[in-house]
Amino acid sequence: MILPNSLYGLSRRAVVGGALALAGCQRPASSQVAPVHVPPLKSLASFPVGTAVQAVHLQDPVLSGLIAAQASQLTPEWEMKMEYIVRDDGGFRFDAPDAIAAFARVNGLRLFGHTLIWYAQSPPAFEALDESRVSFAEAYRNYIHAVVGRYRGQAVGWDVVNEAVAEDGEGWRDSLWSRRLGPFDHMVLAFQHAREADPAARLFLNDYNLEWLPKKRATFLRLAERLMAAGAPIDGVGTQTHIAADQDPGELRRTIAELGQLGLLVHVSEFDVSLSRAEGVFKDWRRLAEGQAALYAQAAEAFMALPASQRFAFTFWGLRDAESWLKREDGADTPLPFDEFGQPKAAAAAWAERVA
Ligand code: G3I
Repeated sequence: MILPNSLYGLSRRAVVGGALALAGCQRPASSQVAPVHVPPLKSLASFPVGTAVQAVHLQDPVLSGLIAAQASQLTPEWEMKMEYIVRDDGGFRFDAPDAIAAFARVNGLRLFGHTLIWYAQSPPAFEALDESRVSFAEAYRNYIHAVVGRYRGQAVGWDVVNEAVAEDGEGWRDSLWSRRLGPFDHMVLAFQHAREADPAARLFLNDYNLEWLPKKRATFLRLAERLMAAGAPIDGVGTQTHIAADQDPGELRRTIAELGQLGLLVHVSEFDVSLSRAEGVFKDWRRLAEGQAALYAQAAEAFMALPASQRFAFTFWGLRDAESWLKREDGADTPLPFDEFGQPKAAAAAWAERVA
């Protein structure tokens, strides 16, 4: 049985890897790994270096200090999504995203909004709206204007539509948004509403597994082209790049290059390299760590191969391993550039060498 390579359930790799992990893929503690010395990542790159962040992280002086020192752009990891903002009664709450926006402003960091429309989140307040298209369309427009308008002049861009393409590449995902406003029209409307709400913000179509599933990548590229042809105000494309240490580097390079050929801005929007999801392939931790560092380097090289004008940002989905979402799948995973103590890893050094 082939498990779906889902990001939200246990992935095929995690199941295989998990079993083999018990077979002795013992990983040394960070303290046993030779330290590497890397200047602040944002001081090396000619493009913005982003990180995902949660409001709670900003209450930790060590972590918030690392974020301010290393990153030049913040993406709220979940608190600018409908799951946080939209209350069950249809009201909105902005305390956490406002705290992240304030931290960005005080520390001179860019703010990137994530995400407006996502198949994975359709809050009860929207589900409860009557079937009439008018009231739903008005609520949809109102939400986008309320959120984008709130950060007008600060947010440099938005993931307007997230993960619209079906995992098998056969068309687009079904969602409350597609059912109520049309499979393609809901996307065009979202871009149009976001443009109206903040004409200066760069507007992105974002997706994942583009480097793992060439058929999905092809459908994503066609969707971006169709949005452009339809006159939707799309400025860029985001490739999340949640990959594992066994990722084929050629597909990684091809993905970023093909996205660049659209002529739009390119955002590596959620980069991390899982070791655990590749444990079924490599038999020991050293090989996994080497594979991870190589992929950090290859991702940096591929991004640097883009014209400078198209390099929107390179965003890590967190800086320290301790905060990675992948820890929920395997607490031993270490996918990020800094270890749990905030020390740079070999992967960070490999990335830094290629962007400097
Ligand atoms: O912090 C609260 C906690 O106080 C509360 O008790 C608990 C109750 O459920 O929720 C906690 O918040 C959770 C939050 O992560 C912080 O851990 C939310 O429930 C949970 O939904 C949220 O998950 C986020 C997920 O997207 C869904 O929004 C992950 O952090 C985040 O890493 C993940 O990011 C996604 C991208 O948006 C899209 N690409 C894939 C990526 C990974 O799945």
